[in-house]
Amino acid sequence: MSRQTLKVPDIGGAEDSEVIELCVQVGDRVELEQGLIVLESDKASMEIPADQAGVVVEILVKEGDTLAEGAAIVVLETEAATEASAAAEASEGAEESVEVAPETVAEPAVIAETVIDKEPAPDTTAEVIVSVPDIGTPDAVELIEICVAVGDHVDEGDSLVVLESDKASMEIPSPQSGEVLSLAVAVGDQVTEGDKLLVLVGNAVAVTVSPSEPEPKVADPAPAEEAAKAPKSPPINAQAERSEAVPVASGGVYAGPAVRKLAREFGVGLEQVAGSGPRGRIVKEDLQGFVKSALAGGTQVGTGSAIPPIPEVDFAAFGEVDIQPLTKVDKLTAVNMQRSWLNVPHVTQFDEADITELEAFRAELKAEAAQREVKLTPLPFLLKACAQALRDNPRMNSSLIGDGENIAFKGYVHIGMAVDTPAGLVVPVIRDVDKKSLWELAAETAELAEKARNRKLRPLDMQGGCFSISSLGGLGGTGFTPIVNAPEVAILGVSKLAVKPVWDGEAFAPRKMLPLALSYDHRVVNGALGGKFITEISALLADIRRLLL
Ligand code: COA
Repeated sequence: MSRQTLKVPDIGGAEDSEVIELCVQVGDRVELEQGLIVLESDKASMEIPADQAGVVVEILVKEGDTLAEGAAIVVLETEAATEASAAAEASEGAEESVEVAPETVAEPAVIAETVIDKEPAPDTTAEVIVSVPDIGTPDAVELIEICVAVGDHVDEGDSLVVLESDKASMEIPSPQSGEVLSLAVAVGDQVTEGDKLLVLVGNAVAVTVSPSEPEPKVADPAPAEEAAKAPKSPPINAQAERSEAVPVASGGVYAGPAVRKLAREFGVGLEQVAGSGPRGRIVKEDLQGFVKSALAGGTQVGTGSAIPPIPEVDFAAFGEVDIQPLTKVDKLTAVNMQRSWLNVPHVTQFDEADITELEAFRAELKAEAAQREVKLTPLPFLLKACAQALRDNPRMNSSLIGDGENIAFKGYVHIGMAVDTPAGLVVPVIRDVDKKSLWELAAETAELAEKARNRKLRPLDMQGGCFSISSLGGLGGTGFTPIVNAPEVAILGVSKLAVKPVWDGEAFAPRKMLPLALSYDHRVVNGALGGKFITEISALLADIRRLLL
């Protein structure tokens, strides 16, 4: 028989940390590593786990206490001791049951004006008023979350609402299963014990009047007599007797009051934040990281993704490090890429275009190109093919309007081309690609690339794009998945052509195959359209005579 006092372990020098949450109650059985309390210092929230399993017999701290390493937290009756006493209690209980007369057995619970049957009978019409149970304080507390809506089906134990006092959040579980008929509260209401929260109906457990009960075992028979006369399925007040406030977070959101308060101040819904604490608990750092990333990436607080921050690493601890400032373009690119990546559901579709004929034609034009003092690379052909495919497929040449209600179809075809420069990636836009000749496009792409590398582009040169091409063919690689340059809805990634054996129906022939990757915004472009579009581009590149059609 031993009792163990569990103490605050080494908490990394954090002195005087505040107890912000008690995770256990007297009588609870705790497992090894199960959280006992949550401490919060200036720098972090920490859940203090049990270093032994057992049953809580005494809690030596309360919320608001400040603790340091070595402070006693709880007294546990350890496994062996628990089993021994349980066995002893069982045998005592057995003896008592022989002696105790049946009439003195605990009486059935009397709830408001009705009696609960001991033998449940299904009743799909009973209305059950769920009220605030005993929440351990006579003071009004704030209702901070409603976890259900009218029409929702709830099971016994499901969270209905979350209340929050100065010191703790309390989840109010459903006393039984049923459908939410009506809500009697709103977020922000101040409530106290007994206040009506909502009404449940249907699938109710046996909560029926029992006129046939021979002798209702209640101290005062009057309420039972009234109940017997009452109409079938009256509203039943289900509160503290069958429902206990649970001091944890709600609806899968696991966070302490301090974090919840901070989240409300920031206007962040905690369901968006990924918890990095034990058992997924959301700690202050998770919330701070979420807000930081939302601000940096332009994610709207309240609607963005829950992205845990990448931890800061002291690289110098592992070797020599040279820290350089990011360029303005690098920083802008980072914001744009993250914004697109997070907002746009991407799909990437691949194809290979047989550009053997195109390359032969390009070779024929080499002398003329030299005469014109332009370099005719595959890029102008790609631009022409994309322009035609965009004209043929208006949805690929569109953008979603920010209101989420409308889509803009563009009557022009302006295409951006990604240019790699020493200062970073920029995307100048070539206007009216569909109206320009291959020579004009060759000259313009070279000019824009030159301007980009010399930082001579004006803001207008980089605006108004409908679609983008990222051509990495001059650099190499067999394929990549480009990120859509939102609000455009698609981008074509081009890799290095390779000579491959292609079956022509009779034999394998060496063909110049150009790898293409089309990424698109799956909110606007479905797979069929994506497939049609990339196939059309491949066909146009394979037979450039089609560009004239
Ligand atoms: N396969 C094989 N060779 C290719 C090719 C391809 N898909 N595309 C171009 N080439 C060849 C060109 O013909 C040229 O060869 P040459 O010198 O023998 O004539 C060589 O590669 C270099 O071409 P480049 O100068 O790059 O011209 P371009 O018209 O193909 O591309 C830019 C112009 C501005 C798009 C390109 O220089 C560039 O900056 N690309 C990077 C885009 C990027 O960074 N994307 C990443 C976005 S995340």
